[in-house]
Amino acid sequence: MRFENRTILITGASSGIGAATATLLAEEGANLILTARGDDRLQAFAHSLAETGTKVLARAGGVTDAAHMQGLVDRGESMFGKLDAAFNNAGALGNGTPVIDTPRADWDEVIDVNLTAAFIAAQTQVPALKRAGRGSLLFTGSFVGPELGIPGMGAYAAAKAGLTGLVRALAVEHGAEGLRVNALLPGGTKTPMAGDDPSFRDWAAQLHALKRLAEPEEIASVAAFLLSDEASFVTGTAMLADGGNSVCKT
Ligand SMILES: NC(=O)c1ccc[n+]([C@@H]2O[C@H](COP(=O)([O-])OP(=O)(O)OC[C@H]3O[C@@H](n4cnc5c(N)ncnc54)[C@H](OP(=O)(O)O)[C@@H]3O)[C@@H](O)[C@H]2O)c1
Repeated sequence: MRFENRTILITGASSGIGAATATLLAEEGANLILTARGDDRLQAFAHSLAETGTKVLARAGGVTDAAHMQGLVDRGESMFGKLDAAFNNAGALGNGTPVIDTPRADWDEVIDVNLTAAFIAAQTQVPALKRAGRGSLLFTGSFVGPELGIPGMGAYAAAKAGLTGLVRALAVEHGAEGLRVNALLPGGTKTPMAGDDPSFRDWAAQLHALKRLAEPEEIASVAAFLLSDEASFVTGTAMLADGGNSVCKT
């Protein structure tokens, strides 16, 4: 029960890595503040957690909407008394076009969801973590960007690489205040983002030393570690959970 009496905010909570992490944190006693854009899927998931006894606040909205993100923190603090940690996990791949064919609006959207949203998250969440006296901020990056390039993912790679830099800046700006700030860089993971085309999944699996994709639960267990007191001396890191993707050349 690493998260008993802890309140944790999760974005992109209704699917994939976010949902698997919410499930694990709930099993370990956390109170949860959950968000994603689609309300029906989010509320159905929140309801399933509440049925097992977890206290959940679930509000639909986008991570690029600063008012929504501030509202989540405010509502969560008044409902649960404090915010202990946040897992800023929502992301978007983009439309797969090469950089030079990417319309400016598509570039802006991918940068907004994967990078500017992290800036908004920090601005809305850090004051609450400081009020709690300590805290852990975690952001989902990717192996794409910090570790390697994949054709058709230019904006995504730029945003995820930028996220690693933002995490380092936040870690040094708030370390003395008792806040830890980290990025988790998953390898290819079996979620809707990875699609359901078997030939694409086979191709992606071969990029990894383990020659397979991760289950979302395998990424969730690393997220839980980084959010927990077990990682009390871990800050400013970009932790790979990539199945050896970054070291594989075969
Ligand atoms: N799957 C992989 O292979 C892989 C690998 C490396 C890194 N990642 C990263 O892992 C994170 C989670 O991805 P996943 O694979 O778990 O994807 P997923 O299963 O498609 O889940 C994405 C979640 O984010 C929400 N979301 C998407 N855009 C949003 C927005 N603008 N505002 C708020 N919520 C939004 C989605 O719900 P709504 O659509 O209802 O908003 C959903 O809950 C992302 O940051 C992704 O870049 C994934």
